[in-house]
Amino acid sequence: MTYVVTENCIACKYTDCVEVCPVDCFHEGETTLVIHPDECIDCGVCEPECPAGAIRPDTEAGSEIWVAFNRKYASVWPVVTERKDPLPEAAIRDGATGKLGEFFPEDVASLLGKG
Ligand code: SF4
Ligand code: F3S
Repeated sequence: MTYVVTENCIACKYTDCVEVCPVDCFHEGETTLVIHPDECIDCGVCEPECPAGAIRPDTEAGSEIWVAFNRKYASVWPVVTERKDPLPEAAIRDGATGKLGEFFPEDVASLLGKG
């Protein structure tokens, strides 16, 4: 089992989550973070730290695509352990829908099976 970063992190990236992780398994891209599913020890301490509610356990229904998304990018993005300023539009984009399709259109096709 693992926790994963989900859609609402995209374009927000508050980074409150990274400093509490005991195994440093957050990885950073330009618009979002991901958790390495094979390194996460399932401690759960990061989940309540996210102001956007973007960190979810993989036991939730529909989490399969997020496990795949997190695994894909954790293997290419660098580890992040220090908190930084959120993205400029974080307050506006928090809760917005369609962010996966806007920023990762190729993943909508491959993970959700939609063109
Ligand atoms: Fe790190 Fe624990 Fe969150 Fe996994 S659940 S990403 S180990 S803080
Ligand atoms: Fe993203 Fe929440 Fe962390 S918005 S960077 S998962 S604190």
